[in-house]
Amino acid sequence: MKEVLIKYIEKDRAENILTDLEKNLFSKASDACNKAYAPYSNFNVGSSILLENDIFVSGSNQENASFPCGICAERTALFSAKSNYPKLKILKIAITTKSKEFKNIEPVAPCGLCRQVLLEYEIKQKSTIEIYLFNTKKFLKISSAKDLLPFYFSEERLMRK
Ligand code: THU
Repeated sequence: MKEVLIKYIEKDRAENILTDLEKNLFSKASDACNKAYAPYSNFNVGSSILLENDIFVSGSNQENASFPCGICAERTALFSAKSNYPKLKILKIAITTKSKEFKNIEPVAPCGLCRQVLLEYEIKQKSTIEIYLFNTKKFLKISSAKDLLPFYFSEERLMRK
């Protein structure tokens, strides 16, 4: 199996590795994280997407007293990006978390639902989406949504006989 993950990189070293656009993307994901509506979990998640033409779209997790109504930061950003800019490709997505209650030792990876959504957009646009996970100490880069969900459900399965 090909190597999927680039090693965790200390955040201080990231300054030299990341492009200006990527630094901007991280900063927008952090801003989004601060705007999360997460009064039930107290677990804030922020996500920012870089589209073609250097357009950024961000989102945070949005919870509700009726728990299942809530939605993750990644899908908030993805659906917003694809609603507003349906023709633009998604180049990169950055995800970060913040919580006063939970330890934030490792950068958090997207849940299964968000992986499925990311993957369908990746397949549709015929080019990979880079995924960056980060916290205050480390970041890691995953080269493609497919690497996060190798055995996925795709629209081909819905082709009628
Ligand atoms: N959450 C996200 O926003 N993204 C993920 O990938 C995992 C979990 C949110 C959902 C919920 O509001 C809170 O984090 C705790 O699960």
